Amino acid sequence: MLPNVNYIGNKKKIVDWLIQLIPSDVISVVDGFSGGGSVSYSLKSAGYRVIANDMLYSSFELNKAFVENNEVILSYEHLENANHYNASENVKKRLSSLSQKLYFPDEVEELAGLVGYAEDCLQGYQYSIYLSLLRRAMIRKLPYSRMNINWDNITKLRDEEYSYEKYGRRRAYHNQSFIEHMYSAIDEYNMSVFKGKRAATVEQLDIFDLIEKYPSADLLYMDPPYPGTMNNYDAFYGPFDDMFTKHVKHIDLTSSENFMQYMEDIFNLVSKKYKYVMISLNNSIKPSFSEFVKMISEYGNVEIFEKKHNYQVSGSKTKEKNMELVALVTFN
Ligand SMILES: C[S@@+](CC[C@H](N)C(=O)[O-])C[C@H]1O[C@@H](n2cnc3c(N)ncnc32)[C@H](O)[C@@H]1O
Repeated sequence: MLPNVNYIGNKKKIVDWLIQLIPSDVISVVDGFSGGGSVSYSLKSAGYRVIANDMLYSSFELNKAFVENNEVILSYEHLENANHYNASENVKKRLSSLSQKLYFPDEVEELAGLVGYAEDCLQGYQYSIYLSLLRRAMIRKLPYSRMNINWDNITKLRDEEYSYEKYGRRRAYHNQSFIEHMYSAIDEYNMSVFKGKRAATVEQLDIFDLIEKYPSADLLYMDPPYPGTMNNYDAFYGPFDDMFTKHVKHIDLTSSENFMQYMEDIFNLVSKKYKYVMISLNNSIKPSFSEFVKMISEYGNVEIFEKKHNYQVSGSKTKEKNMELVALVTFN
């Protein structure tokens, strides 16, 4: 099973349902917006040939570690050696902007040592697993598990007494060191590595560059950041990419003005050389669900599948939060 990677908007809970909707003549799947990798990982485990893509570097390394990698694991020794590693001035400088923006100064120092170790001593899939562990550690230390919370709020919420009084939870894990977080997840991460039946490929490209590079495949799966939902992935995880200066240029799908046009452009490009597009939707997207379905119906036969999600609220009460919707477009 894919380890817990703490990724906003991941499809972990519904991925089995999604995969059984894939038509039986599909072998190759391009996951255009693979994020935390839950869909690509399950596709790999179901035997598909997977191309996992996301514009974020953090996703790229996650997908390298668990989708493309078939056998390499990370030994404890590396965490032992990384602890108290002396980072170069260059690395320290690169990370200095995180000080009192996301972490306390002594924590940024620890982070610099951990990054320095990875860059000086690791390579290949060991590097990818290590970076994935580091990413998780960074997220676990932040209130709301994202990197766009302001410093005043971070310091307030990381005060365990304040958090306990206000929310009844101390959230002590925010105050554990990065390396402690890495130790606590390394076994789970290593155990998630397995050999797929078919080779997988990982990319860090804008969706249009991806389609240009892979102009044909059986199925394109899309789980884009819809306008009107929690969608600012650059802000959620971009500071990690900045640490490694790995930003790629990409179109902005989060504004409702351009969204439909971009989607039409994508459908125009793939409708001739792909057999299917599968696209995750939800009922609160902007533009409206019906408008979107009308647009994609121009390209082929559309089937809509829905799955209700029940979230436990308290005791026996449950609240229906989101309806998971997926459209399968079969091109003529
Ligand atoms: C809803 S999330 C995908 C979640 C994923 N299905 C999972 O299970 O974790 C949307 C993803 O689209 C990526 N993204 C946003 N704009 C993109 C673009 N122009 N090209 C490629 N990826 C993009 C974001 O970085 C984000 O990871």
